[in-house]
Amino acid sequence: MKVLIVGGGGREHALAWKAAQSPRVDKVFVAPGNAGTFHEENVHNVTISTNNFLALAKFALEEEVGLTIVGPEQPLVDGLVDFFQARDLAIFGPTKRAAQLEASKAFAKAFLERHSIPTGNYRVFSETAPALSYVREQGTPIVIKADGLAAGKGVIVAMTIAEAEKAIHSMLSERVFGKAGNRIIIEEFLEGEEASFIVMVDGKNILPMASSQDHKRVGTGDTGPNTGGMGAYSPAPLVNSRLNERIISEIIAPTVQGMADEQGGYIGFLYAGLMITPDGRPKVIEYNCRFGDPETQPILMRLESDLIAHCEAALHGKLDTQVPRWDPRPAVGIVLASEGYPGNYQKGYIITGLDSAALPRNDVKIFHSSTAEHSGNIVTDGGRVLCVTAVGSTIKSAQKKAYSACHVVSWPGSFYRSDIAWRALQRA
Ligand code: AMP
Ligand code: GLY
Repeated sequence: MKVLIVGGGGREHALAWKAAQSPRVDKVFVAPGNAGTFHEENVHNVTISTNNFLALAKFALEEEVGLTIVGPEQPLVDGLVDFFQARDLAIFGPTKRAAQLEASKAFAKAFLERHSIPTGNYRVFSETAPALSYVREQGTPIVIKADGLAAGKGVIVAMTIAEAEKAIHSMLSERVFGKAGNRIIIEEFLEGEEASFIVMVDGKNILPMASSQDHKRVGTGDTGPNTGGMGAYSPAPLVNSRLNERIISEIIAPTVQGMADEQGGYIGFLYAGLMITPDGRPKVIEYNCRFGDPETQPILMRLESDLIAHCEAALHGKLDTQVPRWDPRPAVGIVLASEGYPGNYQKGYIITGLDSAALPRNDVKIFHSSTAEHSGNIVTDGGRVLCVTAVGSTIKSAQKKAYSACHVVSWPGSFYRSDIAWRALQRA
Protein backbone atom coordinates (compact mmCIF):
# COMPACT_ATOMS: atom_id res chain seq x y z
CA MET A 1 0.00 0.00 0.00
CA LYS A 2 1.03 3.60 -0.57
CA VAL A 3 0.64 6.11 2.24
CA LEU A 4 0.46 9.91 1.98
CA ILE A 5 1.39 12.10 4.95
CA VAL A 6 0.11 15.68 4.71
CA GLY A 7 2.39 18.30 6.29
CA GLY A 8 6.03 19.31 6.45
CA GLY A 9 7.05 19.50 10.11
CA GLY A 10 8.78 17.31 12.68
CA ARG A 11 5.56 15.48 13.48
CA GLU A 12 5.16 14.60 9.80
CA HIS A 13 8.78 13.46 9.54
CA ALA A 14 8.16 11.11 12.47
CA LEU A 15 4.85 9.88 10.99
CA ALA A 16 6.51 9.24 7.61
CA TRP A 17 9.51 7.50 9.21
CA LYS A 18 7.20 5.26 11.21
CA ALA A 19 4.85 4.58 8.26
CA ALA A 20 7.84 3.52 6.14
CA GLN A 21 8.62 0.78 8.69
CA SER A 22 5.20 -0.83 8.28
CA PRO A 23 5.20 -4.22 6.52
CA ARG A 24 1.94 -3.13 4.86
CA VAL A 25 3.54 -0.12 3.21
CA ASP A 26 5.45 -0.06 -0.11
CA LYS A 27 5.96 3.65 -0.43
CA VAL A 28 5.40 6.77 1.65
CA PHE A 29 4.73 10.21 0.18
CA VAL A 30 4.90 13.44 2.17
CA ALA A 31 3.27 16.64 0.93
CA PRO A 32 5.21 18.87 1.06
CA GLY A 33 7.71 17.29 3.49
CA ASN A 34 11.15 18.78 4.26
CA ALA A 35 14.82 17.91 3.86
CA GLY A 36 14.48 15.24 6.56
CA THR A 37 11.72 13.36 4.78
CA PHE A 38 13.56 13.89 1.46
CA HIS A 39 16.51 11.86 2.79
CA GLU A 40 14.39 9.23 4.55
CA GLU A 41 14.52 5.75 3.07
CA ASN A 42 11.39 4.80 1.09
CA VAL A 43 9.88 8.27 1.65
CA HIS A 44 9.25 10.68 -1.23
CA ASN A 45 8.42 14.38 -1.04
CA VAL A 46 5.62 15.70 -3.21
CA THR A 47 5.55 19.45 -3.87
CA ILE A 48 1.91 20.07 -3.03
CA SER A 49 1.02 22.47 -0.25
CA THR A 50 -1.30 21.41 2.57
CA ASN A 51 -4.03 23.85 1.50
CA ASN A 52 -4.26 22.61 -2.10
CA PHE A 53 -7.01 20.02 -1.48
CA LEU A 54 -7.71 19.43 -5.17
CA ALA A 55 -4.07 18.65 -5.97
CA LEU A 56 -3.74 16.41 -2.89
CA ALA A 57 -6.86 14.42 -3.80
CA LYS A 58 -5.79 14.17 -7.45
CA PHE A 59 -2.38 12.88 -6.38
CA ALA A 60 -3.93 10.33 -4.00
CA LEU A 61 -6.25 9.11 -6.75
CA GLU A 62 -3.58 8.89 -9.46
CA GLU A 63 -0.99 7.22 -7.22
CA GLU A 64 -3.62 4.89 -5.73
CA VAL A 65 -2.73 5.99 -2.22
CA GLY A 66 -4.39 3.56 0.20
CA LEU A 67 -4.22 5.79 3.27
CA THR A 68 -3.68 9.50 3.89
CA ILE A 69 -2.75 10.81 7.35
CA VAL A 70 -3.06 14.52 8.08
CA GLY A 71 -0.47 16.07 10.41
CA PRO A 72 -1.33 19.75 11.06
CA GLU A 73 -4.55 21.34 12.28
CA GLN A 74 -5.17 23.90 9.53
CA PRO A 75 -6.11 21.48 6.73
CA LEU A 76 -8.26 19.49 9.19
CA VAL A 77 -10.05 22.63 10.33
CA ASP A 78 -10.51 23.62 6.67
CA GLY A 79 -12.14 20.28 5.82
CA LEU A 80 -9.47 18.19 4.05
CA VAL A 81 -10.95 15.00 5.53
CA ASP A 82 -14.43 15.87 4.25
CA PHE A 83 -12.92 16.64 0.83
CA PHE A 84 -11.20 13.23 0.62
CA GLN A 85 -14.21 11.35 2.01
CA ALA A 86 -16.45 12.90 -0.67
CA ARG A 87 -14.10 11.29 -3.21
CA ASP A 88 -13.98 7.90 -1.46
CA LEU A 89 -10.33 8.37 -0.51
CA ALA A 90 -9.23 6.74 2.78
CA ILE A 91 -8.01 9.42 5.16
CA PHE A 92 -7.29 9.35 8.90
CA GLY A 93 -8.29 12.53 10.70
CA PRO A 94 -11.33 14.36 12.06
CA THR A 95 -13.88 16.05 9.81
CA LYS A 96 -14.21 19.81 9.78
CA ARG A 97 -17.12 19.51 12.19
CA ALA A 98 -15.13 17.35 14.62
CA ALA A 99 -12.06 19.59 14.28
CA GLN A 100 -14.04 22.45 15.84
CA LEU A 101 -12.69 21.09 19.13
CA GLU A 102 -9.43 22.81 18.19
CA ALA A 103 -10.69 25.46 15.73
CA SER A 104 -12.81 27.27 18.29
CA LYS A 105 -11.96 27.51 21.95
CA ALA A 106 -15.48 28.85 22.59
CA PHE A 107 -16.89 25.69 20.95
CA ALA A 108 -14.54 23.50 23.01
CA LYS A 109 -15.40 25.22 26.29
CA ALA A 110 -19.16 24.96 25.65
CA PHE A 111 -18.70 21.29 24.70
CA LEU A 112 -16.74 20.61 27.90
CA GLU A 113 -19.43 22.31 29.94
CA ARG A 114 -22.31 20.45 28.24
CA HIS A 115 -20.65 17.12 28.93
CA SER A 116 -19.49 17.92 32.46
CA ILE A 117 -15.85 17.33 31.53
CA PRO A 118 -13.51 19.01 34.05
CA THR A 119 -12.01 22.31 32.86
CA GLY A 120 -11.41 25.85 34.17
CA ASN A 121 -14.27 28.33 34.62
CA TYR A 122 -14.56 30.82 31.80
CA ARG A 123 -16.55 33.50 30.02
CA VAL A 124 -16.66 34.42 26.32
CA PHE A 125 -16.48 38.07 25.19
CA SER A 126 -16.67 39.88 21.87
CA GLU A 127 -16.65 43.43 23.27
CA THR A 128 -13.71 45.12 24.97
CA ALA A 129 -15.49 46.97 27.81
CA PRO A 130 -17.27 43.99 29.45
CA ALA A 131 -14.09 41.90 29.06
CA LEU A 132 -12.08 44.57 30.86
CA SER A 133 -14.52 44.83 33.72
CA TYR A 134 -14.64 41.02 34.04
CA VAL A 135 -10.85 40.74 34.51
CA ARG A 136 -10.86 43.61 37.00
CA GLU A 137 -13.55 41.80 38.95
CA GLN A 138 -11.79 38.39 38.76
CA GLY A 139 -8.25 39.58 39.45
CA THR A 140 -5.03 37.86 38.39
CA PRO A 141 -3.51 35.52 37.43
CA ILE A 142 -6.00 35.04 34.62
CA VAL A 143 -5.82 33.61 31.11
CA ILE A 144 -6.89 35.42 27.93
CA LYS A 145 -7.35 33.33 24.77
CA ALA A 146 -8.24 34.15 21.18
CA ASP A 147 -11.15 31.92 20.09
CA GLY A 148 -9.66 30.75 16.78
CA LEU A 149 -6.36 29.33 15.53
CA ALA A 150 -3.49 31.72 16.22
CA ALA A 151 -0.42 29.57 15.47
CA GLY A 152 0.16 28.91 19.17
CA LYS A 153 0.35 32.64 19.99
CA GLY A 154 -3.27 33.27 21.02
CA VAL A 155 -2.95 32.51 24.74
CA ILE A 156 -1.77 35.05 27.31
CA VAL A 157 -1.32 33.99 30.91
CA ALA A 158 -1.65 37.43 32.55
CA MET A 159 0.01 37.87 35.92
CA THR A 160 -1.11 41.50 36.28
CA ILE A 161 -4.28 43.43 35.39
CA ALA A 162 -2.19 45.60 33.04
CA GLU A 163 -1.08 42.49 31.07
CA ALA A 164 -4.66 41.22 30.90
CA GLU A 165 -5.90 44.60 29.67
CA LYS A 166 -3.16 44.72 27.05
CA ALA A 167 -4.12 41.24 25.79
CA ILE A 168 -7.82 42.15 25.60
CA HIS A 169 -7.07 45.36 23.71
CA SER A 170 -4.72 43.67 21.26
CA MET A 171 -7.19 40.85 20.49
CA LEU A 172 -10.55 42.68 20.51
CA SER A 173 -9.64 46.28 19.60
CA GLU A 174 -6.40 46.06 17.58
CA ARG A 175 -7.41 42.66 16.14
CA VAL A 176 -3.87 41.30 16.02
CA PHE A 177 -5.23 37.79 15.33
CA GLY A 178 -7.80 38.99 12.79
CA LYS A 179 -10.95 36.84 12.73
CA ALA A 180 -9.44 34.36 15.19
CA GLY A 181 -9.84 37.11 17.80
CA ASN A 182 -13.47 38.03 17.03
CA ARG A 183 -14.25 36.42 20.35
CA ILE A 184 -11.98 35.83 23.32
CA ILE A 185 -12.17 33.42 26.22
CA ILE A 186 -11.24 34.62 29.67
CA GLU A 187 -10.40 31.62 31.76
CA GLU A 188 -9.58 30.80 35.33
CA PHE A 189 -5.83 30.27 35.87
CA LEU A 190 -5.26 26.60 36.68
CA GLU A 191 -2.43 25.65 39.01
CA GLY A 192 -0.61 22.38 38.51
CA GLU A 193 1.51 20.42 36.09
CA GLU A 194 0.68 20.02 32.41
CA ALA A 195 0.58 16.73 30.50
CA SER A 196 -0.22 15.85 26.90
CA PHE A 197 -2.65 12.96 26.52
CA ILE A 198 -2.98 11.77 22.94
CA VAL A 199 -5.22 8.96 21.72
CA MET A 200 -6.40 7.45 18.45
CA VAL A 201 -10.17 7.36 18.04
CA ASP A 202 -12.33 5.46 15.53
CA GLY A 203 -15.63 7.14 16.37
CA LYS A 204 -16.22 5.00 19.46
CA ASN A 205 -13.12 3.05 20.51
CA ILE A 206 -10.04 4.66 22.02
CA LEU A 207 -6.41 3.57 21.59
CA PRO A 208 -4.24 5.63 23.95
CA MET A 209 -0.78 6.62 22.82
CA ALA A 210 1.96 6.68 25.47
CA SER A 211 1.81 9.65 27.84
CA SER A 212 4.09 12.64 27.30
CA GLN A 213 5.05 16.09 28.50
CA ASP A 214 5.95 19.11 26.40
CA HIS A 215 8.00 22.19 27.33
CA LYS A 216 6.07 25.24 26.12
CA ARG A 217 8.31 28.07 27.25
CA VAL A 218 11.22 29.06 25.07
CA GLY A 219 13.83 29.28 27.82
CA THR A 220 15.61 26.89 30.16
CA GLY A 221 13.85 26.90 33.55
CA ASP A 222 10.45 27.41 31.86
CA THR A 223 11.17 31.08 31.22
CA GLY A 224 10.22 33.42 28.39
CA PRO A 225 7.26 33.34 26.01
CA ASN A 226 5.21 30.29 25.01
CA THR A 227 6.22 28.41 21.87
CA GLY A 228 4.85 25.48 19.88
CA GLY A 229 6.96 23.29 22.17
CA MET A 230 10.73 23.16 22.81
CA GLY A 231 11.04 19.48 23.65
CA ALA A 232 9.05 16.52 24.90
CA TYR A 233 9.49 13.16 26.51
CA SER A 234 7.53 9.97 26.89
CA PRO A 235 6.32 8.44 29.12
CA ALA A 236 5.42 11.16 31.62
CA PRO A 237 6.01 9.67 35.10
CA LEU A 238 3.32 12.07 36.39
CA VAL A 239 0.69 10.04 34.52
CA ASN A 240 0.69 6.88 36.64
CA SER A 241 -1.81 4.11 35.98
CA ARG A 242 -4.43 5.58 38.29
CA LEU A 243 -4.26 9.00 36.70
CA ASN A 244 -4.25 7.33 33.29
CA GLU A 245 -7.56 5.63 34.12
CA ARG A 246 -9.04 8.87 35.40
CA ILE A 247 -8.06 10.74 32.26
CA ILE A 248 -9.70 8.09 30.08
CA SER A 249 -12.89 7.84 32.12
CA GLU A 250 -13.36 11.50 33.07
CA ILE A 251 -12.07 13.20 29.93
CA ILE A 252 -11.38 11.07 26.86
CA ALA A 253 -14.39 8.71 26.97
CA PRO A 254 -16.99 11.48 27.51
CA THR A 255 -15.32 13.54 24.76
CA VAL A 256 -15.57 10.69 22.26
CA GLN A 257 -19.15 9.93 23.34
CA GLY A 258 -20.13 13.62 23.16
CA MET A 259 -18.66 13.96 19.68
CA ALA A 260 -20.53 10.82 18.56
CA ASP A 261 -23.81 12.09 19.99
CA GLU A 262 -23.57 15.63 18.63
CA GLN A 263 -21.05 16.13 15.88
CA GLY A 264 -21.12 13.04 13.68
CA GLY A 265 -18.32 11.36 15.60
CA TYR A 266 -14.57 11.85 16.00
CA ILE A 267 -12.05 9.80 14.01
CA GLY A 268 -8.36 10.65 14.17
CA PHE A 269 -5.71 11.59 16.67
CA LEU A 270 -7.19 13.48 19.60
CA TYR A 271 -4.95 15.45 21.90
CA ALA A 272 -6.10 16.64 25.30
CA GLY A 273 -3.81 19.28 26.81
CA LEU A 274 -4.29 18.73 30.53
CA MET A 275 -3.54 20.47 33.77
CA ILE A 276 -3.10 18.03 36.64
CA THR A 277 -4.10 20.08 39.66
CA PRO A 278 -2.14 19.79 42.94
CA ASP A 279 -4.88 17.48 44.33
CA GLY A 280 -4.33 15.14 41.37
CA ARG A 281 -7.37 15.99 39.26
CA PRO A 282 -7.02 16.22 35.47
CA LYS A 283 -8.63 19.26 33.81
CA VAL A 284 -8.75 20.11 30.13
CA ILE A 285 -6.77 23.21 29.07
CA GLU A 286 -7.39 22.66 25.38
CA TYR A 287 -8.12 20.07 22.73
CA ASN A 288 -6.04 19.60 19.60
CA CYS A 289 -7.46 17.64 16.69
CA ARG A 290 -4.08 16.14 15.76
CA PHE A 291 -0.93 14.56 17.14
CA GLY A 292 1.31 16.94 19.11
CA ASP A 293 4.54 18.42 17.84
CA PRO A 294 7.10 17.69 19.35
CA GLU A 295 5.28 14.96 21.36
CA THR A 296 4.92 12.77 18.24
CA GLN A 297 8.69 12.39 17.90
CA PRO A 298 9.46 10.71 21.28
CA ILE A 299 6.12 8.84 21.28
CA LEU A 300 6.68 7.29 17.84
CA MET A 301 10.31 6.46 18.73
CA ARG A 302 8.76 4.18 21.38
CA LEU A 303 5.94 2.70 19.31
CA GLU A 304 6.88 -0.86 18.30
CA SER A 305 3.54 -1.91 16.83
CA ASP A 306 2.37 -0.94 13.34
CA LEU A 307 0.99 2.61 13.22
CA ILE A 308 -0.50 1.98 9.79
CA ALA A 309 -2.37 -1.12 11.00
CA HIS A 310 -3.78 1.01 13.85
CA CYS A 311 -4.89 3.76 11.42
CA GLU A 312 -6.52 1.29 9.05
CA ALA A 313 -8.34 -0.44 11.91
CA ALA A 314 -9.56 2.99 13.05
CA LEU A 315 -11.02 3.70 9.62
CA HIS A 316 -12.99 0.44 9.91
CA GLY A 317 -14.23 1.22 13.43
CA LYS A 318 -12.11 -1.61 14.79
CA LEU A 319 -9.57 0.06 17.05
CA ASP A 320 -10.72 -2.35 19.77
CA THR A 321 -8.85 -5.12 17.88
CA GLN A 322 -5.54 -3.26 18.16
CA VAL A 323 -2.94 -3.70 20.87
CA PRO A 324 -0.18 -1.09 20.77
CA ARG A 325 3.29 -2.23 21.84
CA TRP A 326 5.68 0.23 23.41
CA ASP A 327 9.41 0.16 23.92
CA PRO A 328 9.50 0.39 27.74
CA ARG A 329 12.53 2.70 27.52
CA PRO A 330 11.88 6.43 27.81
CA ALA A 331 12.43 8.80 24.88
CA VAL A 332 13.43 12.45 24.96
CA GLY A 333 13.14 14.90 22.05
CA ILE A 334 14.97 18.25 22.09
CA VAL A 335 14.05 21.03 19.68
CA LEU A 336 16.83 23.03 18.03
CA ALA A 337 15.47 26.45 17.10
CA SER A 338 16.48 29.58 15.22
CA GLU A 339 17.69 32.66 17.10
CA GLY A 340 14.69 34.93 17.68
CA TYR A 341 12.04 32.17 17.79
CA PRO A 342 9.15 32.40 18.78
CA GLY A 343 9.52 35.97 17.46
CA ASN A 344 11.19 36.89 14.17
CA TYR A 345 14.10 34.82 12.88
CA GLN A 346 16.21 34.39 9.73
CA LYS A 347 16.01 31.33 7.50
CA GLY A 348 18.42 29.73 5.04
CA TYR A 349 21.42 29.00 7.30
CA ILE A 350 23.43 25.90 6.41
CA ILE A 351 23.11 23.28 9.16
CA THR A 352 26.41 21.60 10.01
CA GLY A 353 27.05 18.34 11.81
CA LEU A 354 24.14 16.31 10.43
CA ASP A 355 26.54 13.81 8.86
CA SER A 356 29.30 14.14 11.45
CA ALA A 357 31.05 10.99 12.62
CA ALA A 358 30.72 12.38 16.15
CA LEU A 359 26.95 12.04 15.95
CA PRO A 360 25.66 9.13 18.03
CA ARG A 361 23.65 6.81 15.77
CA ASN A 362 22.31 4.14 18.08
CA ASP A 363 18.96 4.99 19.60
CA VAL A 364 19.15 8.57 18.27
CA LYS A 365 17.02 9.98 15.49
CA ILE A 366 17.09 13.55 14.22
CA PHE A 367 13.66 14.56 12.99
CA HIS A 368 13.49 17.66 10.81
CA SER A 369 10.88 20.28 11.67
CA SER A 370 11.62 22.96 9.11
CA THR A 371 14.52 22.36 6.79
CA ALA A 372 15.05 22.60 3.06
CA GLU A 373 17.56 21.31 0.50
CA HIS A 374 19.54 24.11 -1.10
CA SER A 375 22.41 23.49 -3.56
CA GLY A 376 23.22 20.19 -1.90
CA ASN A 377 23.10 21.65 1.62
CA ILE A 378 20.45 21.27 4.28
CA VAL A 379 19.36 24.74 5.39
CA THR A 380 17.07 26.11 8.09
CA ASP A 381 13.56 26.96 6.94
CA GLY A 382 11.65 28.01 10.06
CA GLY A 383 11.70 28.69 13.80
CA ARG A 384 11.75 25.15 15.13
CA VAL A 385 14.26 23.43 12.88
CA LEU A 386 15.16 19.99 14.25
CA CYS A 387 14.00 17.67 17.00
CA VAL A 388 16.85 15.47 18.22
CA THR A 389 15.21 12.41 19.77
CA ALA A 390 16.78 9.53 21.70
CA VAL A 391 15.73 6.50 23.69
CA GLY A 392 17.69 5.26 26.69
CA SER A 393 17.41 2.71 29.47
CA THR A 394 16.53 5.55 31.85
CA ILE A 395 15.20 9.04 31.29
CA LYS A 396 18.66 10.33 32.26
CA SER A 397 20.42 8.23 29.64
CA ALA A 398 17.87 9.16 26.95
CA GLN A 399 18.41 12.82 27.80
CA LYS A 400 22.20 12.41 27.76
CA LYS A 401 22.18 10.72 24.35
CA ALA A 402 19.89 13.38 22.89
CA TYR A 403 22.08 16.22 24.21
CA SER A 404 25.27 14.59 22.97
CA ALA A 405 23.76 14.77 19.46
CA CYS A 406 22.53 18.35 20.00
CA HIS A 407 26.11 19.43 20.75
CA VAL A 408 27.24 18.25 17.30
CA VAL A 409 24.62 19.96 15.13
CA SER A 410 24.40 23.74 14.70
CA TRP A 411 24.00 26.80 12.48
CA PRO A 412 24.52 30.50 13.20
CA GLY A 413 22.18 31.43 16.05
CA SER A 414 20.89 27.89 16.76
CA PHE A 415 19.79 27.27 20.33
CA TYR A 416 18.01 24.71 22.51
CA ARG A 417 16.85 24.42 26.09
CA SER A 418 19.32 22.63 28.33
CA ASP A 419 16.75 21.15 30.74
CA ILE A 420 14.33 19.10 28.64
CA ALA A 421 12.85 16.32 30.83
CA TRP A 422 13.65 18.06 34.13
CA ARG A 423 10.29 17.16 35.66
CA ALA A 424 10.72 13.47 34.84
CA LEU A 425 14.24 13.53 36.26
CA GLN A 426 12.96 15.12 39.44
CA ARG A 427 10.54 12.21 39.85
CA ALA A 428 13.07 9.50 38.86
P1 AMP B 1 -3.25 26.45 24.95
O1 AMP B 1 -2.86 26.95 23.58
O2 AMP B 1 -4.68 26.64 25.29
O3 AMP B 1 -2.70 25.08 25.25
O4 AMP B 1 -2.43 27.37 25.96
C1 AMP B 1 -1.02 27.48 25.87
C2 AMP B 1 -0.44 27.36 27.24
O5 AMP B 1 -0.94 28.38 28.10
C3 AMP B 1 -0.77 26.06 27.95
O6 AMP B 1 0.04 25.03 27.55
C4 AMP B 1 -0.55 26.48 29.39
O7 AMP B 1 0.82 26.49 29.70
C5 AMP B 1 -1.07 27.89 29.41
N1 AMP B 1 -2.48 27.91 29.81
C6 AMP B 1 -3.57 27.89 29.01
N2 AMP B 1 -4.71 27.92 29.73
C7 AMP B 1 -4.35 27.95 31.02
C8 AMP B 1 -5.08 28.00 32.26
N3 AMP B 1 -6.40 28.04 32.29
N4 AMP B 1 -4.36 28.03 33.40
C9 AMP B 1 -3.01 28.02 33.39
N5 AMP B 1 -2.27 27.98 32.27
C10 AMP B 1 -2.92 27.95 31.08
N1 GLY C 1 3.24 20.56 21.46
C1 GLY C 1 1.96 21.15 21.56
C2 GLY C 1 1.13 21.03 20.37
O1 GLY C 1 1.37 20.24 19.49
O2 GLY C 1 0.15 21.76 20.29
